[in-house]
Amino acid sequence: MRSLSLPISTSGRAPCAPAMSKRGMFIQGSNWWKLRREAVAHGADITASARSSSSSSLSQLALGESLRAEFPILDQQVNGQPLVYLDNAATSQKPRVVLEAMSRCYTEYNANVHRGVHALSAKATQEYEQAREKVAVLIGASTCREVVIVRNATEGINLVANTWGSANIKQGDEIILSVAEHHANLVPWQLLAARTGAVLRHVRLTPDKSQLDMDHFRSLLSPRTRLISLVHVSNVLGCVLDTAYVAEQARRVGAKLLLDCCQSVPHMPVDVRSLGADWIVASSHKFCGPSGVGILWGRYEVLESMDPWMGGGEMIADVHLDHSTFAMPPTRFEAGTPAIAETIGMGAAAEWLYGLGMERVHAYEEKIGTYLYERLAAVSPRVTIYGPRPGGPRGRASLAAFNVEGLHATDVSTLLDMAGVAVRSGHHCAQPLHRELGVSASARASAYIYNTEAEVDKFVEALTDTIKFFDDMHGAAS
Ligand SMILES: Cc1ncc(COP(=O)(O)O)c(C=O)c1O
Repeated sequence: MRSLSLPISTSGRAPCAPAMSKRGMFIQGSNWWKLRREAVAHGADITASARSSSSSSLSQLALGESLRAEFPILDQQVNGQPLVYLDNAATSQKPRVVLEAMSRCYTEYNANVHRGVHALSAKATQEYEQAREKVAVLIGASTCREVVIVRNATEGINLVANTWGSANIKQGDEIILSVAEHHANLVPWQLLAARTGAVLRHVRLTPDKSQLDMDHFRSLLSPRTRLISLVHVSNVLGCVLDTAYVAEQARRVGAKLLLDCCQSVPHMPVDVRSLGADWIVASSHKFCGPSGVGILWGRYEVLESMDPWMGGGEMIADVHLDHSTFAMPPTRFEAGTPAIAETIGMGAAAEWLYGLGMERVHAYEEKIGTYLYERLAAVSPRVTIYGPRPGGPRGRASLAAFNVEGLHATDVSTLLDMAGVAVRSGHHCAQPLHRELGVSASARASAYIYNTEAEVDKFVEALTDTIKFFDDMHGAAS
């Protein structure tokens, strides 16, 4: 596999390594400070060159069956049946390159980052900062200085709510969310509204309840709108937001825009330079990386305007007993020892996924997602699948949240599990959306790049058996 060949400074440190205390940098001698300044000056070129060198042998690898060898976990039996893993919207599986990258970190160069002058620490810092660059490439950031490493998307949204939100949202200001948001994009704003007296407005669903009603969205906009925070791709409906329209409207009313890209970054090309958002968030564990790490991307001038959230080591410039000054972003928002091996794993995942080609990933998912939808819809007229039909103007994600009339989603999922098929059931952290849909729960099958049509067939077969099992049971009981 060819790597992205990201440029690394001659000292072996990545150009985007956050600044250590200035005193520390001079003590180290060498040209660290100069490199740091160069990194800042050339930030915009870093990902441009990395992006243009993206051709890789991975881009020749067929998706689906051919990829499965890269995912050792998929080759196992569950409840005596070959595993069919269709819970990818909750978390994806991890390819060997990610497992190996994390293992190498612990077996070859484990040390704290940005602190030591010794070889292991330099290597750990280099790998850690390269991971930031790899994620920057995946999301199209023009500089890795815009990529804040956080624990997950949830933390990224909380960070914005507690920094930009606390400083800029006042009583009577309005925040536009939607009824389809994941709890991660509802609760932080509820907490902010409770602190500030801001008003939350929610975009409702279209009359067929398949996606967000953009006319309603427009009607909610006003000079009081300070922030719009919406899901790019819904983890339940699978609908895809018209981000160009939303960004245009946000600009028109002078509101900031945050996009929850948890279900888009893993599955389609996402280019933050053209998205029109001020921030996006994504979680590594959903794009083939480890859990415990994710990203907040923000336009640099917006990040620069934000106060720190958590205080502690690393995020400072100078600390005195009674006050401190703070580092520039992204370091300003990364207090304490980070999840080092996990971040390195996330970088390996970003590089691997980007190497496959996100256009190809998206095309494959459209194909398997449509197959999943159509096979599932044909199981029984009692099956309701939520969200838009495939083939619509905005497409839909390769997931299907559904219910079978007369059956509880958890019972369905339990029986599917007995057949080796892993799907999620419950409210998928979208309780308000389920209320809108008139149900308390749904089952959800979500496919990814390593799933095959044969697996969808097994899922459909197991679901057909499940329905028959419950019908027989109910028949016997009546
Ligand atoms: C659309 C969406 N937003 C946010 C999240 C929260 O992600 P995390 O728990 O990794 O922070 C998820 C996870 O399921 C999601 O699907």
